[in-house]
Amino acid sequence: MRLQNKFSFNFFEGVTFARMQILDGKKTAQAIKEELKLNVAQRSVEGKKVPHLAAILVGNNGASETYIAAKVKACEESGFRSTLERMDSDTSEAKLIDVIQQLNTDPDIDGILVQLPLPSQINEENIINAIDPDKDVDGFHPVNVGRMVLGQPAFIPATPYGIMLLLKHYKIETAGKHAVVIGRSNIVGRPMSILLSDNKNPGNCTVTLCHSKTTNLKELCLQADIIVAALGKPEFLKADMVKEGAIVVDVGITRVKDDTKKSGFKLKGDVAFDEVAPKCNFITPVPGGVGPMTIAALLKNTFNSCIQKN
Ligand code: GUN
Repeated sequence: MRLQNKFSFNFFEGVTFARMQILDGKKTAQAIKEELKLNVAQRSVEGKKVPHLAAILVGNNGASETYIAAKVKACEESGFRSTLERMDSDTSEAKLIDVIQQLNTDPDIDGILVQLPLPSQINEENIINAIDPDKDVDGFHPVNVGRMVLGQPAFIPATPYGIMLLLKHYKIETAGKHAVVIGRSNIVGRPMSILLSDNKNPGNCTVTLCHSKTTNLKELCLQADIIVAALGKPEFLKADMVKEGAIVVDVGITRVKDDTKKSGFKLKGDVAFDEVAPKCNFITPVPGGVGPMTIAALLKNTFNSCIQKN
């Protein structure tokens, strides 16, 4: 037995395996959007209501403009209706809540999202609380968070929901695996830790939720079968923090200055992709990984909201 172990260890040492597979979020999201498009077309033929998403953008933050444009475009591609409410950056909290209340009571609107972050004069928590939980397709309202934690039907925040859809699409075995989630945000890390620990498939992981005060992050990552990096620090996760055969999901999308690009920036993930990828069984790229899945998940929430109400 000992000999065998020794032999296999020596034999494999230093050999690079061509087993790494990219988790292609762009292709997977496209497939989900195509399926939604067919379902929406079918509803249309049957004279049923098609999904209608209302998005609110306060101010003109560059990244928020890009994300909102992508969400509106995805709605169009899948045959959804969308309404974009633009509000000035000096809009008051009361005025924004007024717009939300109108959308809450409008029977034509199935989903409402307020793009975050908001200008400093507006309290994000008050805004999230003002959205009707049954139209909260971002899944940020405390009622949806509570339902999700209890395993009840809920709108799941788009980024963790998109990651779960991606793991499911690639039939990744997660049960019994140790998942390390880096970052405890309300939007990504915390809900991700809950979904991965749920008694579902994908799910059933043993989850460690790491954050800025975690003292032994490298050791924990080296024990992880699955790592979800969602801390917003470009190329934070290095090869020496990842064990052979790990599954790595990169949620980072930091804009880094790049004069060779027309836009003046490029997107960088939280994972040092070039050095980490050769060690992985599966890894998501940036761009083309989690980002497109987030939008597909938002559409799924909006579609589900529509069929629940109509
Ligand atoms: N800002 C960053 N991510 C998100 C998201 O998923 N939804 C909204 N509304 N704002 C965001």
